[in-house]
Amino acid sequence: MNAIRFTDLIAANQVTGKRVFIRVDFNVPQDADGRITDDTRIRASLPCIEAALKAGAAVMVTSHLGRPKEGRMQPEDSLAPIALRVGELLGRKVPLIADWVDGVIVDGRALAPGELVLLENCRLNVGESKNDEALSRKMAALCDIYVNDAFGAAHRAHASTHGIAQYAPVACAGPLLAGEADAITKVLAEPKRPLIAIVAGSKVSTKLTILEALSAKVDGLIVGGGIANTFMLAAGLPIGKSLAEADLVDKARSVIASMKARGAEVPIPVDVVTAKTFAADAPATTKAATDVAADDMILDIGPKTAAVLAEKLKSAGTIVWNGPVGVFEFEAFSHGTEAIAHAIAASSAFSIAGGGDTLAAIAKFGIESGVGYICTGGGAFLEMLEGKVLPAIEILERRARDATV
Ligand code: 3PG
Repeated sequence: MNAIRFTDLIAANQVTGKRVFIRVDFNVPQDADGRITDDTRIRASLPCIEAALKAGAAVMVTSHLGRPKEGRMQPEDSLAPIALRVGELLGRKVPLIADWVDGVIVDGRALAPGELVLLENCRLNVGESKNDEALSRKMAALCDIYVNDAFGAAHRAHASTHGIAQYAPVACAGPLLAGEADAITKVLAEPKRPLIAIVAGSKVSTKLTILEALSAKVDGLIVGGGIANTFMLAAGLPIGKSLAEADLVDKARSVIASMKARGAEVPIPVDVVTAKTFAADAPATTKAATDVAADDMILDIGPKTAAVLAEKLKSAGTIVWNGPVGVFEFEAFSHGTEAIAHAIAASSAFSIAGGGDTLAAIAKFGIESGVGYICTGGGAFLEMLEGKVLPAIEILERRARDATV
């Protein structure tokens, strides 16, 4: 990406003594008691924070958490558990500041160089999601340097991801944002062929545009989950009472046809694992894709399909992975996703994976070191794969252009 990079500012000694405002994506999964169940996103943002502190900046960090109602804080909206986790990981106390838009005050004084604070959930600020100019200008006034390191939120044109970047004295990309954007851009621009994408999830409708965009670029498009069921319907196979979108069968057919016209393919499952109910303890039955009964639910791909797909992945040059191919949270229906995960890890292809469920599957099957690049973004990852310019990146690039004229 053609933005000013925070690491370059540090190298040029332009950060020491400055007030640095870092927007991160600490939107992490939590259990019913608010305990963080996966801190990947927090750990991924630490290098930026640590670099800012090491450079001698006064460091303010903020993030969104969930989708709260602006101006109406509920206990579950608070970044308090995250402040604790960041503190544990950095080995220092991280004060959490509420009501910070008009000024960041710690113990009755301004933040000093070398200090770090977390600013409460930025989505509680009125005007955040509308990219309000007044709010953006106030946030911009808090800092000398704005750093966007929130790749996961880069597809949102919000006040803390876009407006502030417009008005801050200096606006730049943090190492995580720049690294993720560069990795995805590189994969799409010069992929080693064959390029295989795995797009799975419950609904075709939520991933239709990505399926259509990828069908023009990839050599193989592996579909999974409810998406695969709709493609099975399109291929004339029975799917029983499985999750599918009958109204999108024509769209699925045109994706298959456009891939075929390019000599590429959408492999359709030859066998599946079914159950009569959607439950972790539901008895699992493996059967040919042609034998799915009217009262069956398809909850995973079968071993023959997994073996065929694994073979394709092993000989791929590049693999893009978004979404598990089965209900991997249930042991009996996890083996398809497990086989895919291990095939990706064993492949010599450069692989890039993103999306919340995909990260959970990678962690569950312990293949972190076998994936070329693990992207922290969900929606942002998909939008970049579609070829969209993300608003938070667009504004940083515009600021960089303006700075050079
Ligand atoms: C995500 O979890 O994908 C990001 O944090 C963005 O969250 P959002 O979809 O609520 O904007």
